[in-house]
Amino acid sequence: MKPQVLVSREVFDETLALLNAVCEVDSNQADTRYSTDELVARLQGKQGAVISTADRIDAGVLDRCPGLRIVSNVGVGYNNIDVPACTARGVMATNTPGVLTDSVADYTFGLVIATCRRMTEGEQHLRSGDWKGSFLKQMLGHDVHGATLGIVGMGRIGQTVARRASGFDMKIIYHNRNRIDAAIEASLKAEYRSLEALLGEADIVVLLTPYSPASHHMIGAAQLALMRPSAVLINVARGGIVDDAALIGALKARRIWAAGLDVYENEPAFNPGFLDLGNVVLSPHLASASEPTRKAMAHTAARNCIAALTGGVPPNLLNPETATAR
Ligand code: DGY
Repeated sequence: MKPQVLVSREVFDETLALLNAVCEVDSNQADTRYSTDELVARLQGKQGAVISTADRIDAGVLDRCPGLRIVSNVGVGYNNIDVPACTARGVMATNTPGVLTDSVADYTFGLVIATCRRMTEGEQHLRSGDWKGSFLKQMLGHDVHGATLGIVGMGRIGQTVARRASGFDMKIIYHNRNRIDAAIEASLKAEYRSLEALLGEADIVVLLTPYSPASHHMIGAAQLALMRPSAVLINVARGGIVDDAALIGALKARRIWAAGLDVYENEPAFNPGFLDLGNVVLSPHLASASEPTRKAMAHTAARNCIAALTGGVPPNLLNPETATAR
């Protein structure tokens, strides 16, 4: 009998074809978001779950789905999965690193430029019919080229953003839990700073660190107070790394100049305070959303799931203990 797999959100036809070749697939092609109870109900009798980063898999869910052997996240960030709880129950957990690095780095740069050069504000002005012509002091922004870029989280995506930044003649400083290899630092021309020093020095702070209890509200009122009044904050990592209420306060009071955000606390709920501000560029968690990249993410997740259910070791296994234990 083929293994049974739930795909919790809509995926591409090619992704389904990959899975269908090996598994019996129940796919939510209507793309409605399942509540926890619906997810648990759908997972009954399934050995595999291909899930979105909006689906929470915790100990409670795992205990109600005892047949589950693999939870395959379509996304690199996996703070939606309690990996130790999976490991304790012998459930494999996987993610999709690598395939989205360049697209997220591109988008990060898009947000940097849009925020510094007030691009969405300008578009809104034009669309509103208020534009009376160009004048010297109209919507003056900040230059990106030559600015000091502070990257918080120097993993794959952070390093790729640093490479993009060198094309803009930027000075690159970074903070990471562990200092990166000296040779990589040198090749990126990136200088290490403590978080506090980086916040005080950078013209543009880009957050690319994973979300965990340790990074919860890593940027709150105290950290925003360390930033320059002319500084820009960009978050393409995860909601919860920034204290959104504190950020709204800082943007309103112009304690920092502007922000560009792709992620929010409690997505898809959204702090409406952002909507009253002109100095924030907002986008709905789109950093990886190019068609080739989203396809690569879905196919990678499918391959991870298939490997687990056919006796192999998934290439992106987050808890290798589960492979050695079986
Ligand atoms: C990821 O892969 O973690 C992106 O945020 C998409 O959800």
